[in-house]
Amino acid sequence: MDMSADSGQQPKYYTPDPSYRVHSWMGDYSWTYNEFVKDPDKFWDHIAQKLHWFSPYDKVSEWNYPYAKWFVNGKTNITYNCLDRHVLGDRRNKVALIWKGEYPEEERVFTYRQLYREVQRFANGLKKLGVVKGDRVCIYMPVIPEQVIAMLACTRIGAIHSVVFGGYGAAALNQRIVGAGAKIVITADMAIRRGKAIPLKHIIEEAVINAPTVEKIIILRREQRTPVELHSEMEIDFYEAMADVSSDCPAEVMDAEDPLFILYTSGTTGAPKGIVHTCGGYMVGVYYTTKYIFDIKEHDVYWCTADPGWITGHSYVVYGPLSVGATVLIAENTPDYPDPGTWWKIVEEYGVNILYTAPTAIRMFMKLGEEWPNKYNLSSLRVLGSVGEPLNPEAFEWFYHVIGKDKCPIVDTWWQTETGMHMVTTVLGEPMRPGFVGKSVPGIVADVVDKDGNSVEPGKSGFLVIKKPWPSMMRTIWNNDERYRKYWETIPGCYQVGDLAIRGEDGYIMVIGRSDDLIIVSGHNIGTAEVESALVSHKAVAEAAVIGKPDPLKGNTIKAFVTLRVGHTPSEKLKNELIYHVRITLGPIAMPSEIEFVDSLPKTRSGKIVRRVLKAKEMGMDPGDISTLDE
Ligand code: WTA
Repeated sequence: MDMSADSGQQPKYYTPDPSYRVHSWMGDYSWTYNEFVKDPDKFWDHIAQKLHWFSPYDKVSEWNYPYAKWFVNGKTNITYNCLDRHVLGDRRNKVALIWKGEYPEEERVFTYRQLYREVQRFANGLKKLGVVKGDRVCIYMPVIPEQVIAMLACTRIGAIHSVVFGGYGAAALNQRIVGAGAKIVITADMAIRRGKAIPLKHIIEEAVINAPTVEKIIILRREQRTPVELHSEMEIDFYEAMADVSSDCPAEVMDAEDPLFILYTSGTTGAPKGIVHTCGGYMVGVYYTTKYIFDIKEHDVYWCTADPGWITGHSYVVYGPLSVGATVLIAENTPDYPDPGTWWKIVEEYGVNILYTAPTAIRMFMKLGEEWPNKYNLSSLRVLGSVGEPLNPEAFEWFYHVIGKDKCPIVDTWWQTETGMHMVTTVLGEPMRPGFVGKSVPGIVADVVDKDGNSVEPGKSGFLVIKKPWPSMMRTIWNNDERYRKYWETIPGCYQVGDLAIRGEDGYIMVIGRSDDLIIVSGHNIGTAEVESALVSHKAVAEAAVIGKPDPLKGNTIKAFVTLRVGHTPSEKLKNELIYHVRITLGPIAMPSEIEFVDSLPKTRSGKIVRRVLKAKEMGMDPGDISTLDE
């Protein structure tokens, strides 16, 4: 693909106010990147030294391709750095967490001291139930403070949490519980969405059938007037679990390379992948990027709109911001409920300084009109961030002008569940180029290469790769190390991320989209295989193939092609039934927006469905080489 932006007309940049050059903590971009290049281990050592270690590491890194170790033999605990350090220091009474519920009066505020106490009590509650270091705990909750408390309580005692986004359906949840072999599941009776209670308990009940490792289910009962009944010995109330325990639970001493958490992400084939992050490297990576990329200052209010159930929430709601001692806002909220001004009202009311969100939300607000943000005072905003999918130039401009009032720099951060931290972005103070994420974060060596690993010429598309290990890289995939190795072994010497990109003459990188069968819908990764197997689990369906269709609002929507079993005939009713079936098994985020009944699907002679042909046909494009297709 040629890049029109670089062929001919001059690229367009926005140059931020010079005051945005990050000087306070490290240097500006070139200086900092240079420091990294001169001596990578020294660079990371300098950052890691700012955190607390129970005992020091012998060595910064060890690279035994494709396996890395970071901060070798160092002992630490991420919650010590997120809580104890601040409580023992001078942030004891600083606000750590502000939760804003959907109803106007709903607000809960925790100082660092209060959060510290709640985490320790819940950690002791988990211990009382027999949870020990290395056990897996599944957390399936809405965005409420207890979700964050549960995460921190697990890592406090060395239990490995596997947070599952609260919008997933029973089958998706079961697969993740079984995959991780969770001993405990922590959940809530309900989520609140658009003013309505969405019951969660029955989903859990269904999801733990055939999950033999589960011993206990801890349920946070939000509805106090008529609390949901706890049925069996297996079910325990969240606050009962932490009653009668001490509020003193010293942080477990963890080796830097001990697993910290598992987070499942959709794969291109088969089951979702349990990405494994470790205690030391992940901590250093998210601490560094939260500080350097967002330049959070002591009195800032920082709001990342992601659900802690996704990696963005793990790294930039919970562990990164708390490790730097920030005031973090979270909201259980739908951006257009009760009206499209709700986010901007929150910004005004809390004086939000840093707002980190997703292109799909920005595009939705664009559609709803400027009058909504214009009703509120957004002058507290200083830095804006975007993540999850390409921020198209129109959305960049709107975000920059309408929300940032031409004064806030935008950090469009490219990264993944697997990378743990920001990898490519435009560092504050550098000129911003709409449509382009920017350059490698200092500490990272990203490149755009061909399939043999050679850098492609500026303006030509290639595979986005990372050429050197970094502290917060995933260490393996839970129970599937072979799949981990593939990331590093497909393109020689490179970690292949699965995205296509273009590098401009100026070195800026534009991410075009996935090079595989993942579909990014409203910033959520959906595996074609997952949706297909959900469809095939319906009695009427013989085979299914799923593609992503570009969509101006969501980035992509899902279209499914379905062949029916004998005895079933196509109908509108059946279409709706299939869509509903996917909704129940996988959850609303994976629902196809379109279903087409077909007589057969294009396949290779070995029987593999060729989605590329369906996609080309759908888009009215040339399907390319079809010589290997079966008649
Ligand atoms: C996409 C989310 C363009 C990309 C943190 C990546 C992006 C996948 C950007 C990872 C961005 C993420 N510009 N594309 N700024 N950020 N992506 O694991 O395709 O949920 O590989 O992590 O999202 O999604 P994940």
